[in-house]
Amino acid sequence: MTESARSADWRSWQESWDRQQELYMPDREERFRVMLDMVEALVGPEPRVLDLACGTGSITDRLLRRFPKATSTGVDLDPALLAIARGTFEGDERVTFVTADLKDPRWPDTLPHGSYDAVLTATALHWLYSEPLAVLYGQLGGLVRDGGVFMNADRMTDPDTPRINAAEHDHRHTVRDRTNTDGTLDWADWWALAAKDPVLAGPTAERFRLFGAHADGDTPSLRWHADTLRAAGFGEARAVWSSPSDSLVLAVK
Ligand SMILES: C[S@@+](CC[C@H](N)C(=O)[O-])C[C@H]1O[C@@H](n2cnc3c(N)ncnc32)[C@H](O)[C@@H]1O
Repeated sequence: MTESARSADWRSWQESWDRQQELYMPDREERFRVMLDMVEALVGPEPRVLDLACGTGSITDRLLRRFPKATSTGVDLDPALLAIARGTFEGDERVTFVTADLKDPRWPDTLPHGSYDAVLTATALHWLYSEPLAVLYGQLGGLVRDGGVFMNADRMTDPDTPRINAAEHDHRHTVRDRTNTDGTLDWADWWALAAKDPVLAGPTAERFRLFGAHADGDTPSLRWHADTLRAAGFGEARAVWSSPSDSLVLAVK
């Protein structure tokens, strides 16, 4: 694919985003599948969903393919990823995108709905430190309806297992270097390509002004997430999927 073809082809940008993310998470589709299994199990096949820190709308994309009667609000701050998301879903009345900073205390005011059946997020909340993340969880306690769910798939590090953590980290990086032989773009290369695209160059420059190369944040443990979600008003919270480095935590209001 040429660079000029990419600029007009949102689906191609989606696919290259997926390949880039899979470089870091080979099991990315598996966690989306489990997430949607749990949506179906707990709130049914026609949910009103908030895709939190949606990026290009990867969760919304899988949601609508599997549950055509679902609706989704995607919220993010990154103008380049949101441009791809908006381009992809243009004309789809089931989908709305909102630009907001999740660290802004008033971000829920920007949403089109005051309550959701499911709030779903992946590979995003490690961009926030624990303190603002706990504040965000408190806000989600107010946004998820009673009986509704919140799910977060992300890196969750157990501070009690430093030797396992170090070995897992080294192994993951070694395997990534060994298996990336087909030239899949990594994070830095993907953004370098976006910066050269005639449509995405402006929004990409703006996202680097907002975030830098990558936002700061930390990766609290699964226990921290479950405890903090219970303190935020969710009745139950536990992992429904885990890998050696990541977990998918599910909380029911
Ligand atoms: C690695 S991407 C993941 C996107 C998507 N969930 C996926 O799985 O492909 C992380 C996302 O978090 C968003 N994000 C990070 N901090 C944010 C903040 N303070 N407010 C809104 N979005 C934020 C970034 O803009 C980015 O789109």
